[in-house]
Amino acid sequence: MADSGSEVHIDEDIGKDDPSANGSQSSPYKSLLYAYIQHPPSSSSSYLTRKSETGPVSEHGDPEVRKEWKPASASAQKKASKAYDQYKKKLARQDEFAIRKKQEQVKRQQALQEAMKVRITEDASLPRAFKIRLDEQDPQLVKLRRGDSTKDVDYGNGSGSRVRVTGRVHRLRDQKDVIFVTLRDGYGTMQCVLTGDLTRTYDARTLTLETSMEIWGEMWEVPHGQHAPDNREMHADYYEIIGKAAGDKEAITTRVAKDADPQTLLDNRHLVLRGENSSAVMKVRAALLRAFRRVYESEITPSCLEVTPPCMVQTQVEGGATLFDFNYYGEKAYLTQSSQLYLETCIASLGNVFCVAPSFRAEKSLTRRHLSEYTHVEAELDFLSFDDLLLHLEMVMSNVVEIVLSDPKIKAMVYELNPSFQVPERPFKRMTYAEAIVWLRKNEILNENGQPHEFGDDIAEAAERRMTDIINRPIFLTHFPVEIKAFYMKKDSQDLRVTESADVLMPGVGEIVGGSMRIDDHDELMAAFKREGIDPKPYYWYTDQRKYGTSPHGGYGLGLERFLAWMCGRFTVRESPANVLDIEEAAPRSASALSFNCVGVAACDSDSSSIETVVPYTRPWDGISERETRLGYNPSERINYSLKRATTFRLFDLTPEVQDKIIWWSVVGICNKKELKPYGYSAKMSRSGRPMFNVMVALAAHNNPEAGRLLKVAKQYLYDKDTPGSVCIL
Ligand code: 4AD
Repeated sequence: MADSGSEVHIDEDIGKDDPSANGSQSSPYKSLLYAYIQHPPSSSSSYLTRKSETGPVSEHGDPEVRKEWKPASASAQKKASKAYDQYKKKLARQDEFAIRKKQEQVKRQQALQEAMKVRITEDASLPRAFKIRLDEQDPQLVKLRRGDSTKDVDYGNGSGSRVRVTGRVHRLRDQKDVIFVTLRDGYGTMQCVLTGDLTRTYDARTLTLETSMEIWGEMWEVPHGQHAPDNREMHADYYEIIGKAAGDKEAITTRVAKDADPQTLLDNRHLVLRGENSSAVMKVRAALLRAFRRVYESEITPSCLEVTPPCMVQTQVEGGATLFDFNYYGEKAYLTQSSQLYLETCIASLGNVFCVAPSFRAEKSLTRRHLSEYTHVEAELDFLSFDDLLLHLEMVMSNVVEIVLSDPKIKAMVYELNPSFQVPERPFKRMTYAEAIVWLRKNEILNENGQPHEFGDDIAEAAERRMTDIINRPIFLTHFPVEIKAFYMKKDSQDLRVTESADVLMPGVGEIVGGSMRIDDHDELMAAFKREGIDPKPYYWYTDQRKYGTSPHGGYGLGLERFLAWMCGRFTVRESPANVLDIEEAAPRSASALSFNCVGVAACDSDSSSIETVVPYTRPWDGISERETRLGYNPSERINYSLKRATTFRLFDLTPEVQDKIIWWSVVGICNKKELKPYGYSAKMSRSGRPMFNVMVALAAHNNPEAGRLLKVAKQYLYDKDTPGSVCIL
């Protein structure tokens, strides 16, 4: 309460506008408006104000004068009154809204009580309904009633077929006396029109999207000028609910709102798949698989036999750094990176072979084209030359696209998803690795160290995609140097520095296929094992192929999700499989051995020389990505370098509590304040806002409420910027 009578005290410096203040001298409010709200103005109220710390004092005056309480000035009172009036109006509006809401609730409850009394039954006198799928179009089977738009069901002359359909509510439009339900069953969609008592039941009044139901009714043409799937609609005469879908806060549209961030969409992929785009991608995926099988089994190419290789293996194909290992009854085993070696063992008895099988890559890369598990279409062809291999690949890819697009439904989906899709023109552009290096230098696209590309550099994902996007047509990139390719690749006899290898690069995605001729000479293969430091013993079954009638042979692997992302214009391969494990969920503690105990870390540029330090750190940065380790970067060296060039400004303010358990995240890719803004994040990371980091490493403690958000932002950033990098919790 205020001190005496109706005197209310306001100290603009130390007062508080919260329940801890009461307007007394010892506990003043901070603002006059708050004082008005707590003690509405009346004829007897007086408001005394002061600024006890910053109030005006004359040149040689005593600062104690600031402590004097003075009546609020007329202008301050006028201003506060105006704001107070607005406040009261707002309150009144809120009250009115609450009352209206309550009335609506009561009304809705009453309506629902009434609705519970409405019962519907199937009319036994109607013709027997037969069940159809929602895409059933046979005019002999599904006759459509023509006529004006009366909604009554009529099985007289010229009537439509009476059918029953099952599905889930895909769209719902409630127009009081008519409810339009668009049902979806995975094959098609159908608009069902509910009228009369069908709209008055409790089920109808509480119908939600995704509810599964069975509906009976007559098939009609859609009235002139109106639209519905397949230009028809069912006029329902009866329905049964099979499974009600959650509504309100749990409604599917809340779980996967249209503007939800991509991480939420990935977390809810099982629900997102019910959407039109995602299900279309899955249908194109199935069409692609069908097409590959058709092409391989046809005479279009020298036909290939399908084999089903194992997923659990004891050997590597594409380098140890990306192997997922597991305990196989006490022995170390791996999830296969590629079925290539297995396919190579098949050709001697089966001729050309192919497989469609999962491959696994332990790359904690959150780029838009990396998956830990992906579908690998691989083929191995016997007795052929490198040129034959390239021709075959070109033929397979082109024919697959042609077959997929020959299905009008699938073609419509592809162009709906990717209106600018271009059927690749044959022949694909051919470019040797050496030519690509020249091209990259000419176009000033730098390597991972921020330097002009040199012969021998691994052409990184970003550079490769930039090149592909600029050239904007499929490219066969051939003849990679021996050092940057897998051990099994055959050397080019014309230039022993390079291999008979080829990647197929597609605009928008980059590498879709990797293939090569294989070393067919036993001794040369043994030398390759030695060069790569791989023990050949476990590969006896592979090397035996060279002992028992070797042959010139080659093959390739095609990433189905990348092919699909290219055809359907998807931004990331993550939209291509049915589901992907969230890396964070899948390997929440896998990096616990690294356990940081640092007080900071550098935000540095992993790819080039521009390195800026954020806060000092106490030990070398262990958080280097596996990919970078594979490429031979030395993290401590890099950090030392970064410290030498240190400028001190802070990415995040690290409190002592934050210094122990740390979540770090790193982002590889140019970024600046502006770029991060769309992610709802504005870090103190750039003095001028100019682009400055290729890698950012941010820290937050486990108990820091920011941590979850940071991780999300980081992951989001990696997806969107399409950069290799990793996010992990330590
Ligand atoms: O170039 P890669 O690593 O080649 C091989 O595995 C060969 N042994 C294949 C063979 O010759 N039979 O991979 C081949 C293709 C890539 O071009 C890419 O499309 C896909 O597999 N791929 C991935 N797709 C999604 N996520 C990943 N992490 C992928 N790694 C490779």
